[in-house]
Amino acid sequence: MTTEPRVVSNLNYRVMAAFLRFRERFRKPEETIRMLGINAGHMVLDYGCGIGSYAIPVAKLVGEEGRVYALDIHPIAIDRVRKRAERENLKNVETIHSGLETGFENASLDYILMFDVYSWIPNKRALLKELHRVLKSTGKMSTIIDHSDPQEFVNDIECYGLFNIETRDDNFFILSRK
Ligand SMILES: C[S@@+](CC[C@H](N)C(=O)[O-])C[C@H]1O[C@@H](n2cnc3c(N)ncnc32)[C@H](O)[C@@H]1O
Repeated sequence: MTTEPRVVSNLNYRVMAAFLRFRERFRKPEETIRMLGINAGHMVLDYGCGIGSYAIPVAKLVGEEGRVYALDIHPIAIDRVRKRAERENLKNVETIHSGLETGFENASLDYILMFDVYSWIPNKRALLKELHRVLKSTGKMSTIIDHSDPQEFVNDIECYGLFNIETRDDNFFILSRK
């Protein structure tokens, strides 16, 4: 099994971006975000941010005192998020182009979103270790598991012993740091 992260072609990414844009209409990211306990002033990482469906509403929620770090492996994603933030005049969105390393100091984030990206990750243990490292002890991580069996995610969480599952609703999870 490869441990190299997967980067799709620009053409494939544009098709997926159109789908993600369409999906915003029925997934209603603003409503999901409101249920998570993200507050004004929070430092939030959106890991695998895509076109910013969640990063943009989170930036509005955390306000000027907070910050959203939108990380993605694909340059088109980074470009889309940057342009969306500019269009909406949001100054608290930073993009990170990466496939694993976040570049944060230990325990520096209040919240991590990992929505619909887990199935893409070749080295899941390494990613969970990195996210555990950068999350504050009081921090939370929320995950939506699409395109893979949520039970495999539960098995990984139990096996690696880094997070507690606080809430689960089908493929939606909120986790705390052990
Ligand atoms: C299906 S999209 C989901 C986007 C967004 N989280 C959402 O729910 O709308 C998956 C995203 O994860 C990104 N991705 C894939 N592998 C990654 C990796 N190893 N590290 C960071 N991002 C990755 C892809 O480029 C893509 O933008």
